[in-house]
Amino acid sequence: MSGFSDRPFTVPKEAEVFNDIFEAKYVADYLEEYVDVHVYDGKSLRDRIRLNFTVRNVEKVGDMWVVNGLSRTDGKESTFESRKVIVATGTTSDAKMPSFSGQVSFQGPIIHQRDFGAFMRGQPVQSQKIAVLGGGKSAADIVYTCAKAGHDVSWIIRKSGEGPGAFTNPAENAKGPFLNDPELAGTRLFGTMSPSCFNQPNWWTTLVHGTSAGQKVVEGIFAKADQKCKTIGNFDNRPGALVGFNGLESNVKLFWCSGPFGMIQRPDFWDIVSKNVRVYRKDISSLSPSIIHLEDGPEIPSDVIICATGFKNEFTFLTEQQHRDLGLPHSRNVENDEEKAWKTLEAEAEERVLAQYPILREPPQDVHVLDFVGKMTPNRLYNCIAPLTDTSIAFVGNVHVPNGFRVAEVQAIWATALLSGNLKLPSEAEMRKDIAWVNAFNRKRYPTHGYLGNYFHYDMMGYIDRLLGQVGLQSHQKGWWANLVYPFITKDLFGTKEEFIRKFVEGNEEVKKAV
Ligand SMILES: Cc1cc2nc3c(=O)[nH]c(=O)nc-3n(C[C@H](O)[C@H](O)[C@H](O)COP(=O)(O)OP(=O)(O)OC[C@H]3O[C@@H](n4cnc5c(N)ncnc54)[C@H](O)[C@@H]3O)c2cc1C
Ligand SMILES: NC(=O)c1ccc[n+]([C@@H]2O[C@H](COP(=O)([O-])OP(=O)(O)OC[C@H]3O[C@@H](n4cnc5c(N)ncnc54)[C@H](OP(=O)(O)O)[C@@H]3O)[C@@H](O)[C@H]2O)c1
Repeated sequence: MSGFSDRPFTVPKEAEVFNDIFEAKYVADYLEEYVDVHVYDGKSLRDRIRLNFTVRNVEKVGDMWVVNGLSRTDGKESTFESRKVIVATGTTSDAKMPSFSGQVSFQGPIIHQRDFGAFMRGQPVQSQKIAVLGGGKSAADIVYTCAKAGHDVSWIIRKSGEGPGAFTNPAENAKGPFLNDPELAGTRLFGTMSPSCFNQPNWWTTLVHGTSAGQKVVEGIFAKADQKCKTIGNFDNRPGALVGFNGLESNVKLFWCSGPFGMIQRPDFWDIVSKNVRVYRKDISSLSPSIIHLEDGPEIPSDVIICATGFKNEFTFLTEQQHRDLGLPHSRNVENDEEKAWKTLEAEAEERVLAQYPILREPPQDVHVLDFVGKMTPNRLYNCIAPLTDTSIAFVGNVHVPNGFRVAEVQAIWATALLSGNLKLPSEAEMRKDIAWVNAFNRKRYPTHGYLGNYFHYDMMGYIDRLLGQVGLQSHQKGWWANLVYPFITKDLFGTKEEFIRKFVEGNEEVKKAV
């Protein structure tokens, strides 16, 4: 499922491939090549990239955006001007780093997951006592890598949070046209089995989501997936497992995405982890020299702490006022007419969401509530890309989806159409209503992670179809049956760029430069 449609993605013959899943370095190689082979106006994409440059602020002066930042190579400050800006800083750029009582006394390094590669490259040969924090996919990968490298690993997953992730095996659903789980989830048919804010209601979605029989089928499908994650781990009866291994059994409900989840790509993962890693489901109370103290014990001797605690989804180079003006998440502490209008729209939207999807009226009672819930507004961007107040700036990649490549390509098309003036947007009132609908839906559909209105885990196909439909492109359509049951993979976007060029570029110098 990897790669952009205008450049085939391949891995070398000798690469280890497990159900179309391979090491991330091949994605890095692909992107390195991609920026060299794409040449426009005699300049490659690489020539246009300023690496090791941190943007510190982005400000609109008149009709120009002024972008200011600092080179991380020589510390030099630079300023650029542009009439259009695309913000693509991702959702995994700003580390979420915990702090602990007694932290200064801990003698070893305390690092974030994003520095794990550098840490491993600098490792001495002898085994170290490594504690890994977090229950998500990064924690799982780091725990496995450290254990496999012969380190003495403790895996600490705090009790007060969502607990360990639900991890599937990509081979489970590798049947028929599907190479792995994400391909099955990347079909429009699967998309209709989940309530979605992007799918147009029809007789089928009414049957599936509007009747108790349909709801039972949906609940059954997801309950089976939850159960599969438990079976794969064989948490209670795995031969040779260390005491505490059963603490990895996840309570995540996949329907609600109520915690971390992912695919385990290493066939020996469970074997390595169960026999070599001590698992603790406790919060950390404090640190002292080379010791981690857990609430109610025990004490864990540790040389290194690796915090696989994830990322903050923030735009640190924009001011609080810009967050308000552009419709990015901001503090709810202002009670002005604008906020009141949003509250009314969101309340109306919530009623419609619950009427269309009765299953969302009864979320699980035990979901983890993130600390900013109630304090921050959600994103208020149209399609999670365009501010209502300014069509000279677009935010791409500010969404949580199961396939980054596919959505990146489609968002790029939509954002190009927007910034080049080729997209006819609905009226502001209609966009406000739609934003409120998407946000209300997100909050009800994903009670743990939908609060910022940009969590589209089961909504990706509807989102893709909406964006391409609004631009007026057709070449991704494969015919009704194939559309429904085959996964949406790289080659399904073949021709989209050419169609875009035929439709908009001929005679339009501005767009010509952009594509
Ligand atoms: C460990 C891991 C594994 C993943 N595996 C998969 C997978 O198997 N399949 C999949 O589809 N997705 C996967 N994802 C998600 C995937 O990486 C993202 O969807 C994808 O990278 C998003 O691309 P992006 O360009 O939007 O953001 P990013 O790739 O995060 O790029 C954002 C860029 O912006 C830069 N930046 C941020 N702030 C500033 C600033 N102030 N100034 C200058 N530059 C800045 C960052 O340095 C970075 O280069 C994974 C993510 C992680 C963390
Ligand atoms: N495809 C792949 O191979 C792959 C690999 C890695 C990551 N990813 C993707 O990358 C994204 C980020 O994943 P991630 O695993 O890095 O982050 P994540 O899913 O956000 O998980 C972070 C974990 O850290 C815990 N945590 C957060 N703050 C903590 C604190 N103060 N103390 C203790 N624990 C804390 C969280 O638990 P609480 O519930 O307690 O907060 C959670 O278990 C996800 O979208 C993931 O799918 C993909």
